[in-house]
Amino acid sequence: MDLIDALLEDHETVKALFTRIATAKGQQQVELFGELRENLVRHEVAEEEIVRPLTRSTLVDGESIAEHRIGEEAKAEETLKQMEKSEVGSTEWLSLFEMLRTAVLEHAEKEETIEFPGLRAGVDADQLEKAQKMFEGAKKIAPTHPHPGTPNTATANMALGPIAALVDRARDAIAKAKAG
Ligand SMILES: [Fe+2]
Ligand SMILES: [Fe+2]
Repeated sequence: MDLIDALLEDHETVKALFTRIATAKGQQQVELFGELRENLVRHEVAEEEIVRPLTRSTLVDGESIAEHRIGEEAKAEETLKQMEKSEVGSTEWLSLFEMLRTAVLEHAEKEETIEFPGLRAGVDADQLEKAQKMFEGAKKIAPTHPHPGTPNTATANMALGPIAALVDRARDAIAKAKAG
């Protein structure tokens, strides 16, 4: 398994969650949305830390491609943040959900057709394997809730990400205790 395999696997997980959430109701929808939120935030933050630097240094127009993808990720985090503030299943939440789904699917499509093939072609196989391990590590320590105000660049997240992640872990533990 290399970096690109791991990225595509995450994409499939997220796409399946979008499909399931669309038809889920009540508590099940709440739980699936929690799963989606956590998966999506961890994935995008880790991409910004591990994938984007490779894109910038490897791809033709890498700088611009990385900037565009980061812009889309920031927007998605903004929508997720709004969704967290509204009631799951409400009219407002459902319209935000559709907005997020369209945006994230388009974003994933761009990564899969431009960025990932470029990395496969331009980065050595052993480097892509090492990057996969770094990507998994970055996901482990990433935040679990959206933090649109925290720029998801390698340097910014290395400094602020762990703090946001700690706050998120505490928040998740409290929510779990309340639910149980
Ligand atoms: Fe992404
Ligand atoms: Fe992605």
